[in-house]
Amino acid sequence: MQSIILIGFMGAGKTTVGKRLAARLKWDFIDTDEYIEQKAGMAVSEIFDRYGEENFRARETEALREILQEQKAAVISVGGGLPMRKENREYLKEIGRTIYLRAQVDTLVGRLSGDTGRPLLRGQDLRTRIQQLMELRSAVYESAADVILDTDTMHVGRIVREIAEITEDLRDAEKNS
Ligand code: S3P
Repeated sequence: MQSIILIGFMGAGKTTVGKRLAARLKWDFIDTDEYIEQKAGMAVSEIFDRYGEENFRARETEALREILQEQKAAVISVGGGLPMRKENREYLKEIGRTIYLRAQVDTLVGRLSGDTGRPLLRGQDLRTRIQQLMELRSAVYESAADVILDTDTMHVGRIVREIAEITEDLRDAEKNS
């Protein structure tokens, strides 16, 4: 069985959903931000401050390359900007099935207000920044996704249940193929 990958904007719930989904499926859980932080011994924000965004992006690609070598199926949450590189999207296709946790700008503003840890959201009007980034990103997220879930009005438990069902359907389809 291939892995399940969660993509989406910052604040879409990828990490929260990913952890609960992995526990339910009894699969490993990998969060690319945490993976990079552990390897670097530094927080993502510190990597941005010390080495810049491009350096962080290269670490994301390297993390995917390493994750691709893992044999066990896992639930993988990836940083919001990771699918923007074509190379990364190709890795995602090899690693597994991609689920886009889609959320509207209003929802994201609500979830991200007060956030201080994310370097790309610092120092600007939050709504404007989210709108700008979503304009660049939403079509890419959609094209990278095998499944799109609109999460604005969904509780975490329901999102987890829906993805678990999708995973079971995929598993059955694989068995019968
Ligand atoms: C980023 C999203 C963050 C993290 C970094 C950059 C982005 O991850 O990778 O701050 O470019 O959207 P989350 O989506 O888990 O917040």
